[in-house]
Amino acid sequence: MFLRSLRPWGKMPGRNTLIIPRVDLTFARTAARSSGKPEFRFKTRKVKTPEQLRAEEEQKKYEEAVNSGSWIRKYGAIVDTFEFNRKATKYYLALYLVFFVYGIRYFRKLYERDVEKKELLEKRDSGAELSEWEKLRLRELSGDLIRTSDMAKLKAYHELREEWKKTHTSPEDYFNPAPKEIEHLLDTSYEECILPAKDLTEFYDNVAEKYDSEISTEEMLSFMGSKRKWLMSHCKGDVLEVACGTGRNIKYLDPTKIESYTFLDTSAKMMRVTYDKFTEQWPAFKKVKFVVGKAEDLLDLQGDQQVKYDTIIETFGLCSHQDPVKALQNMMKLLKPGGRIVLLEHGRGSYDFINKQLDRRAHKHSETWGCRWNLDIGELVDASGLEITQEKRSHFGTTWTIVAKRPGDVLEFDELSFLEKYFIARKTNLDSSLPEK
Ligand SMILES: C[S@@+](CC[C@H](N)C(=O)[O-])C[C@H]1O[C@@H](n2cnc3c(N)ncnc32)[C@H](O)[C@@H]1O
Repeated sequence: MFLRSLRPWGKMPGRNTLIIPRVDLTFARTAARSSGKPEFRFKTRKVKTPEQLRAEEEQKKYEEAVNSGSWIRKYGAIVDTFEFNRKATKYYLALYLVFFVYGIRYFRKLYERDVEKKELLEKRDSGAELSEWEKLRLRELSGDLIRTSDMAKLKAYHELREEWKKTHTSPEDYFNPAPKEIEHLLDTSYEECILPAKDLTEFYDNVAEKYDSEISTEEMLSFMGSKRKWLMSHCKGDVLEVACGTGRNIKYLDPTKIESYTFLDTSAKMMRVTYDKFTEQWPAFKKVKFVVGKAEDLLDLQGDQQVKYDTIIETFGLCSHQDPVKALQNMMKLLKPGGRIVLLEHGRGSYDFINKQLDRRAHKHSETWGCRWNLDIGELVDASGLEITQEKRSHFGTTWTIVAKRPGDVLEFDELSFLEKYFIARKTNLDSSLPEK
């Protein structure tokens, strides 16, 4: 009994404080027994030390925090315990090690990419012919915007390279396959899902009356209003709107920045709705034209007096054109020096799972809305020869906002984002595999 009461060393749960009770031994004389001999017994009284009291107080606070119901208090208290800190050192060390190893691998890869890019640039600048793989790899390493067909090739080349690496381990080995070597790996099945273009004049004549009511909910749910507003904020000087439809951009128009405004659409009935909207909202604005015709015929429509524009805009029109590349080339020809083409379009997305859906339902969409919703918009702009100054994508990459200029025109400092001005390289559709001019 005495020994048990003297066994004071133990840990408070969650604490490392040793509790050492001070034992006060008092000898008390008891009443004389019948033997006549005096008898003594120990009387112990435990007195708590200040450390003990502090430990108890801390334990109480800890339990209060853990049971408080607030996860911030709970985890704050756990993190504050000695036990946690003792174990945490181990975890921190393990974590540090993982980051260290990962960091070394990451920086080694960066270095290898840099060396590879430098060698390819040297080869390009020496005037030697680059193979298809080398061109694509140089574009990839330079951060160029790479479109669907090139992306598919690049993917096939990478697959082939992984295989090749297994049997070629010497530093002297150089991977440089011919295009036919990737044929069996190349997936071009998406090409069959791109429907042939057709004349949609009649289709849009037929839907003109219900177009606004049918599209407005979808646009509201996808916050398209703010994108249209962004597009219209670029309009200044002489403006041409191609494939204006029912004039859904009119409500974001700021006539104080606009000299003249020309609407163009192939459907006379869609144009009628635009006319009514415009004249109702801006009755005093007289420098406006409503032209019924095709974007592909823009130059012919102009005749001898080739009017040029400061801003040419188009929203959700490229998917409906018979020849979208020609339409863009016409727009470029009608751009004043320093002018900009601003596009808000829908097309292929940035993810395979989205593109598979777009491809699978291309027919259905075309029947309902007339247009081809699985085109790579960037590919069309690249093919037209326009230089992209800004390209952003949203809704899994299916909504494209693009600002483009004539090749060679100066890029204004204000057109760069803060990051592009000071930290990161601007993404362009310029081809890094071509020799610098
Ligand atoms: C999907 S609607 C877009 C209408 C409008 N821009 C908007 O944002 O709601 C496509 C429009 O492009 C027009 N369009 C189709 N092909 C055209 C072409 N080749 N030239 C000019 N307009 C065309 C159609 O008449 C239709 O009004």
